[in-house]
Amino acid sequence: MPAAGDGVRLGAELPKALVEIAGAPMFIHAARPFLRNAQCVEAVVAAPAGWEPRFQQAADREWGKERVRVVTGGAVRQESVVCALAALISDAEFVLIHDAARPLVSEAVIARVLEALSESVAAAPVIPVMDTLKRTDGRGIFETVERAGLVAVQTPQGILRAAAEEAQRRARAEGFEGTDDVSLIEHFALGAVKAVAGNPSNFKITTTEDLTLARKLMELNGQCAGASGKNR
Ligand code: CTP
Ligand code: MG
Repeated sequence: MPAAGDGVRLGAELPKALVEIAGAPMFIHAARPFLRNAQCVEAVVAAPAGWEPRFQQAADREWGKERVRVVTGGAVRQESVVCALAALISDAEFVLIHDAARPLVSEAVIARVLEALSESVAAAPVIPVMDTLKRTDGRGIFETVERAGLVAVQTPQGILRAAAEEAQRRARAEGFEGTDDVSLIEHFALGAVKAVAGNPSNFKITTTEDLTLARKLMELNGQCAGASGKNR
């Protein structure tokens, strides 16, 4: 789990993944449904340098000692993923890479990604793009981009472990940086990437507005468990 970002756009006093929602740090919420999954043999969280003990304490409090291993992340997301992959000790055949910044991920999305991995090298949850898309330089608008065939991608992204490791090795050698994980599989043509249905609730917390919305949604989920779309 890449959780090593500072959260500059959120502007909290703590790293974003430690910001509390409904009484628990964001990364704990983001990790819970994975740790409930019987196929999850180990979990690694990449934390910002200097904050590892805070993350490890929170994880140990939630799941008991050493169920989740906290390692030091890198300067960019992709490096944090490399750090987490390097820390794996099991012989797991595939990895699910999930952003700590998506605390509302559902068990259903995870299950869909896992299922897709039985027939492809990689899989990612996607949602339709609803707004009309334009090309701009920040001032003028030049062009309307054809929306058909475009989706917004979420995490968790699942990748066969050998392919994930090879992709990272080649990315490092070539100096290629992707903003998500399956982009490396695409770039190096390492196999099919399957799209599965994501969930709009599985949005990424970037700004204070996102944080407020996540808090409200969790409050609602708590009030009417099962009726909130949690399982979609
Ligand atoms: N991330 C990471 N290591 C980094 C940068 C980001 O593990 N060096 C993680 C974040 O912790 C987050 C995910 O990648 O879970 C997506 O990144 P983003 O939402 O951009 O988070 P931040 O980089 O923390 O936020 P900002 O860009 O506003 O600083
Ligand atoms: Mg960032």
